[in-house]
Amino acid sequence: METLSTIGEVRRRVGEWRSQGLRVGFVPTMGNLHQGHLNLVERLASEADRIIVSIFVNPTQFGANEDFSGYPRTLEADLAKLAPLGVAAVFCPNVAEMYPDGPTLRTRVEVPALSDSLCGAARPGHFAGVATVVSKLFNIVQADIAAFGKKDYQQLRVIEQMVRDLDIPTRILPVDTAREADGLAMSSRNGYLSAGERARAPLLQQTLRKAATRLRNGEPRDVVEAWGRATLDASGFRTDYFELRRQADLSVPTEGDRALVLLAAAWLGKARLLDNLELALNAGS
Ligand code: PAF
Repeated sequence: METLSTIGEVRRRVGEWRSQGLRVGFVPTMGNLHQGHLNLVERLASEADRIIVSIFVNPTQFGANEDFSGYPRTLEADLAKLAPLGVAAVFCPNVAEMYPDGPTLRTRVEVPALSDSLCGAARPGHFAGVATVVSKLFNIVQADIAAFGKKDYQQLRVIEQMVRDLDIPTRILPVDTAREADGLAMSSRNGYLSAGERARAPLLQQTLRKAATRLRNGEPRDVVEAWGRATLDASGFRTDYFELRRQADLSVPTEGDRALVLLAAAWLGKARLLDNLELALNAGS
């Protein structure tokens, strides 16, 4: 496994692979890797002949008061986790390599229809930062296929829409959320939880499951959403949102929509936890 730090090195290596007719798979990450990231790599193994992972804590997707400087940087441990998985190359650029004119974006990729609600409402500019860096990474890596986790459901939809709208020739592979034994969605930010908070954190997934049951039993959407927020807040979370949306475009569902997703974001101490649950409602429910 080689470690590459410049865009030129990545272009050369991937160019060699492509000229040999090899299929290139890509997993973009911000490092501090956990089993969820490793699952993305493992899922790509059957779809790609060479896998490249990027590790870059992208400053343009963090708000001014967010955790950019404190975000865990664990490069050596990350490389040790990737090496046994048969990853061919890891791209670890520094900020100057990715943003030679400084990280204030002059050119921005935005997907406003999908970016302004849910996490985007709480984190203005976040998805423009994500879409811009992912489009840069896609242009650098030129992968055939790239894997994204469903835990960041809105991010996945933003990227899929961007790829469709801009004719980016990289196929997006959505991968199911990896969970701890007690159901907590794996996340780099789980490390911010104290022991007491960690014990309470699975309530997020449990509340989504109970909400899905209520919806299947015919309770109205707004009642279930309010119940979800109140349940989490009563257990020490500070809920940003708890909402039912259409899977396809994250718009508010109307009668007849069946392919739905419950999405929640809630603070527990210093950690902002995300989770979601896809559900198919029957006609009439
Ligand atoms: O999901 C992440 O880790 C990041 O948002 C991504 C896609 C690597 C872009 O910086």
